[in-house]
Amino acid sequence: MTKFSFDLQATDGRARTGVIHTPRGDIRTPAFMPVGTAATVKAMLPDSVAATGADILLGNTYHLMLRPGAERVARLGGLHRFMNWDKPILTDSGGFQVMSLADLRKLTEEGVRFKSHIDGSTHMLSPERSMEIQRLLGSDIVMCFDECPALPATEAEVAKSMRLSMRWAQRSRDAFGDRPGHALFGIQQGGVTQELRAESAEALKAIGFEGYAVGGLAVGEGQEAMFGVLDYAPDMLPADKPRYLMGVGKPDDIVGAVERGIDMMDCVLPSRSGRTGQGWTARGQVNLKNARHADDPRPLEEGCGCPGCRNYSRAYLHHVVKAQEIIGSMLLTWHNLHYYQVLMAGLRAAIAEQRLAGFVADFHARRAEGDI
Ligand code: GUN
Ligand code: ZN
Repeated sequence: MTKFSFDLQATDGRARTGVIHTPRGDIRTPAFMPVGTAATVKAMLPDSVAATGADILLGNTYHLMLRPGAERVARLGGLHRFMNWDKPILTDSGGFQVMSLADLRKLTEEGVRFKSHIDGSTHMLSPERSMEIQRLLGSDIVMCFDECPALPATEAEVAKSMRLSMRWAQRSRDAFGDRPGHALFGIQQGGVTQELRAESAEALKAIGFEGYAVGGLAVGEGQEAMFGVLDYAPDMLPADKPRYLMGVGKPDDIVGAVERGIDMMDCVLPSRSGRTGQGWTARGQVNLKNARHADDPRPLEEGCGCPGCRNYSRAYLHHVVKAQEIIGSMLLTWHNLHYYQVLMAGLRAAIAEQRLAGFVADFHARRAEGDI
């Protein structure tokens, strides 16, 4: 059986390109992972998600444990079979989502007790239970159970939270066990403080993981502060393992993160904003609700190979978005995911050919021109 491994193929400055090999298929890096929180990338069939160029999806422990339940998914053959996606799946561990979504949370050394935001029922998540749920789902890349402090937080609060997450990282490693072909990723915390990021990286490296995530960013600190952390944080993590920036981001966040040595990212933005009439193009964000599109026969993005751009006008997209027709969400989600994957393919090729600086300059220049 194929083991989980990472082949770093080329670098350009701090940026890297390579391939993560898994028994369920290869993941080309830098990789963007569409978010399939509730066993679906909303408004998309799995084959369509694959057609955009995605090699891997993200699923969520928190949502799936509450509905339909991890044991039920396991009885039905696991998450891949349940949702009809046979490529790799990475699952987040639930800690981050509990803190932002659940009601009446109680955090202890043991874990987090909380009430479901769906029906008010009481649940417990701990490193051990999160590992069990992610195993029941059949996740290929399992994330450590961690805690991300709510901002604003003092440095003392961030330090205390990070140290708890590092103890939970050890418990996650112990509970994960020996599972060939599956990977466990550690999650660095420490906010925007370099010494705390370094302490967290050392703790994770001492435990040892198949990959390392940078967590606790894109939580309201702004792009400048995030890039400030990314100027040093990825280099604290092992160069021969994948580095995953959690919950990022807008296209310019992704380009900046890749320039700084990040290999994997996920974000709801392309799918979520597609459901509110937003299209992402090389020239920036386009609001299809705007009346200026009502009579426009041109595609959303000239030259785009997605079904929305090949077969429909801006006028049609404007109409179905305004009329709240389901096809509006479908076409814009597909376009946005396609745009993101084209961007990732462009970044990978530019890094492989040592021309990333030119690619990034061109990326910013076209955005500066604005929508046509
Ligand atoms: N998603 C975005 N940020 C985080 C984080 O810090 N931890 C986890 N588990 N998930 C995230
Ligand atoms: Zn398109």
